[in-house]
Amino acid sequence: MEFLKRRQSELMMEGVSLEELGRNMGTPLYVYSLSAILEQMQAMQSAFGAHPTTFCYAVKANSNINLLKEIFKQGFGADIVSVGELERALVAGADPGKIVFSGVGKDEGEIRRGLEAGILCFNVESMFELRAISRIAKAVGKKARICLRINPNIDAKSNPKISTGLYTSKFGIPYQSAAEYLALVRDRSEIQLIGLACHIGSQIVDLSPVKNAAQSMVKLCKETIQAGFPIVYLDLGGGLGIQYDQESPPAFQAYADTILSEIKETSLKLILEPGRVIVGNSGVLITKVLGIKRTPAKRFVVIDAGMNDLLRPSMYDAYHAIEPAVTKSGKLELADIVGPICETTDILASDRPLPDVNEGDLLVVKSCGAYGFSMASHYNTRPKPAEILVQGASAKVIRRRERLADLWASEYIEDSQ
Ligand SMILES: Cc1ncc(COP(=O)(O)O)c(C=O)c1O
Repeated sequence: MEFLKRRQSELMMEGVSLEELGRNMGTPLYVYSLSAILEQMQAMQSAFGAHPTTFCYAVKANSNINLLKEIFKQGFGADIVSVGELERALVAGADPGKIVFSGVGKDEGEIRRGLEAGILCFNVESMFELRAISRIAKAVGKKARICLRINPNIDAKSNPKISTGLYTSKFGIPYQSAAEYLALVRDRSEIQLIGLACHIGSQIVDLSPVKNAAQSMVKLCKETIQAGFPIVYLDLGGGLGIQYDQESPPAFQAYADTILSEIKETSLKLILEPGRVIVGNSGVLITKVLGIKRTPAKRFVVIDAGMNDLLRPSMYDAYHAIEPAVTKSGKLELADIVGPICETTDILASDRPLPDVNEGDLLVVKSCGAYGFSMASHYNTRPKPAEILVQGASAKVIRRRERLADLWASEYIEDSQ
């Protein structure tokens, strides 16, 4: 993480002091390095080399329009899961021909809008979705391009809470049921099957499930082609992991080689849906220590960022490295770093070695670029943080801090009686 390093005692993101930024802009504050994001995108693109590959950034990972603009400028498309994400992506300049619409439950309005926008495809996950797309496409006189999202029953060997590739998960069409879906698609002139898709989970750091998934999917693609469906795409989803703690995620080249070795004998084009690996390590959350509290059992460091700002630790027991923005001397002592939310699970880090921090100090929570702000809520009537995009020595506000009045603006309903 070259874009994040200390200059003497201060933690810098590119050319910007995070201490100074936090003092000037207030906390909690999300900050992203544009150079880090661009570097990840370019590294991924170059790892797949000449193989025809459409990279569809998973908008859910971080959906700030200013980030999306930068991502689409590099030729990435979008993987979306709601009409909200579709509109965001379009506002940010996404090419509709590079948008894949994922998700286990798409409603009628979402399907209509996807068809109208001319997206590349819907990744279909159920019979009821296939029937709805067929009915709506007929009604509006459009041909719907689809991929079938297959559940290959493969364990991603990641956190079970973010795994999607086993039959115990709600996602995808069971591998063994693909034939039923093909039979239904065969007679429908309003549906064009362009490929098969799968996504077995997120934060994958072991390449063996990726290899198994690619192998199974290539086999099914070949069978599908033999059955008379001229499919051209294999979408292998997202899921490549990043380093939060001690994990050693595979390099892009190893990931690409694993996939390419399975697909190279075919004429299939690839679609990939990376999210976390593009933005995850690029972002930090700056937070202020509100005070220290000791009990006979614990040292609590109470900070001004809560589970409403960064949900991952409470929701997934996720680890985020945390460091003071300005180096503190003295020995490390265990602490629970907790937020101000009225929930026992509002813990950002448990039993974490931390120097002797004091009221008013700023802490930097690392690797918050993915599923950080995008999962933030207003719980406890707390406004969402501001977001800043850093490049070189410049720091641009890409989302202003919410004001309290923003939180109840939509609750003023005219009394109709
Ligand atoms: C269908 C689909 N594609 C892509 C992604 C992005 O995954 P990641 O951020 O791990 O790359 C997800 C994440 O949940 C997903 O559900």
